[in-house]
Amino acid sequence: MEFHLLHIQAILFLVLVASHANVDPETYFKSVLPNTPIPKAIKDSLSNDISINTADQKGSTSYVLSNPKEVIPNYKYHCAASPEQIMNKKTSALFFLENSLRAGKRINLHISKDTSATPLFVPREVADSMPIASNKLQHIYNQFKVNPESTEAKLVNKTVNECEQASIVGKDQYCATSLESMVDFVASKLGKRVKGIETQVDGNERAPLQGYKVEEVKKLNGDDGVICHQEYYGYAVYYCHKTPKISSYKVSLVGENNVRAKAVLVCHEDTSSWNPKHLAFMVLNVKPGTNAVCHFLVENVVAWVPY
Ligand SMILES: *[C@@H]1O[C@H](CO)[C@@H](O)[C@H](O)[C@H]1NC(C)=O
Repeated sequence: MEFHLLHIQAILFLVLVASHANVDPETYFKSVLPNTPIPKAIKDSLSNDISINTADQKGSTSYVLSNPKEVIPNYKYHCAASPEQIMNKKTSALFFLENSLRAGKRINLHISKDTSATPLFVPREVADSMPIASNKLQHIYNQFKVNPESTEAKLVNKTVNECEQASIVGKDQYCATSLESMVDFVASKLGKRVKGIETQVDGNERAPLQGYKVEEVKKLNGDDGVICHQEYYGYAVYYCHKTPKISSYKVSLVGENNVRAKAVLVCHEDTSSWNPKHLAFMVLNVKPGTNAVCHFLVENVVAWVPY
């Protein structure tokens, strides 16, 4: 009898393991956040080719590295601005003060998705089988078929360093190497009543750096949030960080080339822990912990906020 029970338990266990492994990332998302629509940026990174789910066995997962010239860097709050960042009109224009935000405001922005190819999520088991670690760098280069001397390799190395750093700093920073792990991180920080907000530019054309007019400003709930930036890698990897006290806004914009966008921006009400030489302070000429600093989200960034 005892033997029988054990046997049944073992079978049940196997069934559970097997069914867990077979849950595709989209189904997993819905099981953790049942009332949350999948943000478009994330949908774009989901393969509709089912074969990628079994690719670890076949060894045929295809990795996509996008055009390295077009990658938008992201800004860690503990980082000082580099001279290039300050000179770069594309990125320095992203920051502004909350009290300057109103309908009719004109701004120069580059918010359109910049990547020529969207990296796809791989299932968690595949991602976990190839850890992002600096001592595995050569192996990672081989897997992505990237020349170690190339710009692509440098950007991959940068991601590896950032992800390693995130795991050292821990707790509120996280490198999500799969959709499953991103969803788990978001739910662990904010609970299940959470939605992903993102900037969306109409149509498929890429909008260049250009002037936009703010047509309408709508304030969303203010609270803690998690912001996830897509990293440069052979599959979809997001650097996510919990950020306290953000107010977010949805803003309708119309560009000089008449392209319309619904842009999301977040304002950080508490910047006291930021690096005093952070790009935002350089551009806006304010000090940490004083004015709320706002920035637009570019198209491959998702902000998770409670609702
Ligand atoms: C990767 O980046 C780190 C930190 O910037 C650097 O020390 C290292 O030499 C780089 N490795 C390669 C192979 O480029």
